[in-house]
Amino acid sequence: MTDKTSQIAPRAFVIGHPIGHSRSPMIHRHWLKQAGIAGSYDPVDVSPDDLRGFFQALKDGSSGFAGGNVTVPHKEAIFGLVDEVDETARQIGAANTVWLNKGKLMATNTDSLGFAANLDETAPGWDSGQRAIVLGAGGASRAVIHALLSRGFTDISIVNRTLTRAVALAERFGSHVTAHAMDDLADAVSGAHLFVNTTTLGMAGSEAPEIDFTTMESGALVTDIVYIPLQTPILTMAKRQGLATADGLGMLLHQAVPGFEKWFGVRPVVTQQLRQLVIADM
Ligand code: ATR
Repeated sequence: MTDKTSQIAPRAFVIGHPIGHSRSPMIHRHWLKQAGIAGSYDPVDVSPDDLRGFFQALKDGSSGFAGGNVTVPHKEAIFGLVDEVDETARQIGAANTVWLNKGKLMATNTDSLGFAANLDETAPGWDSGQRAIVLGAGGASRAVIHALLSRGFTDISIVNRTLTRAVALAERFGSHVTAHAMDDLADAVSGAHLFVNTTTLGMAGSEAPEIDFTTMESGALVTDIVYIPLQTPILTMAKRQGLATADGLGMLLHQAVPGFEKWFGVRPVVTQQLRQLVIADM
């Protein structure tokens, strides 16, 4: 007798190379259990050489997956392997979520939504200002800038160690975004409503420069998308100076919501219980 449950149980993946560090399985398995869905979410190590074959099997249905998450180093490479890349992923220049829709393979990037949803939850009103500073000009920075533009910020300063990378991003996102060298950090921070760190500055052996956050607008918010540790050197510095802060763990949790909904058909909720589960694993 065939097992009908296993035939219809939706399956999802996270692919990367290597894949060992991903926290996504813990998040999605928690939601599967909460929703009583007999589905699965598994990490799969897929090398760049195997990426095309993996996507072919996904598209023709032979792999049995409904979709999944895509992480380093495949976030850009999959653009040429899916049927449709949505506007958000196109603007960010990377995708992290794919799903099958009536035989078509779709791709989006949920980091921008995740960033905004985290702050909506933990720092309501965070998007009421105009001026934002984004420290860093890597992949994560692109998702943050996308979120800030979509939430109405009109004056976004990217400050980065390597100025050319900041310039390239500013050109990519248009007239509301400007590029600055580290030497300009103090000037950029002065009068800003929001400060977002997207670098590992202050961690992994690097010193964080002393930043005077007290020159920001009253009611300004400092946030970090790094979440290990939850209180990063930049958040600790801002707190000490009396600024409101928000940690980045919620971005990881909220960016997972749209994917789960697409693969498993249920919109999951980010709860304190889930947050504690992930913290306990750090
Ligand atoms: P991600 O995709 O996570 O954003 P990334 O593309 O490697 O990662 O970008 C890392 C960002 O952190 C960059 O802005 C990097 O600055 P450079 O463009 O000059 O490399 C920044 N960064 C990392 N370590 C840093 C350090 N010790 N001091 C200053 N900036 C640092």
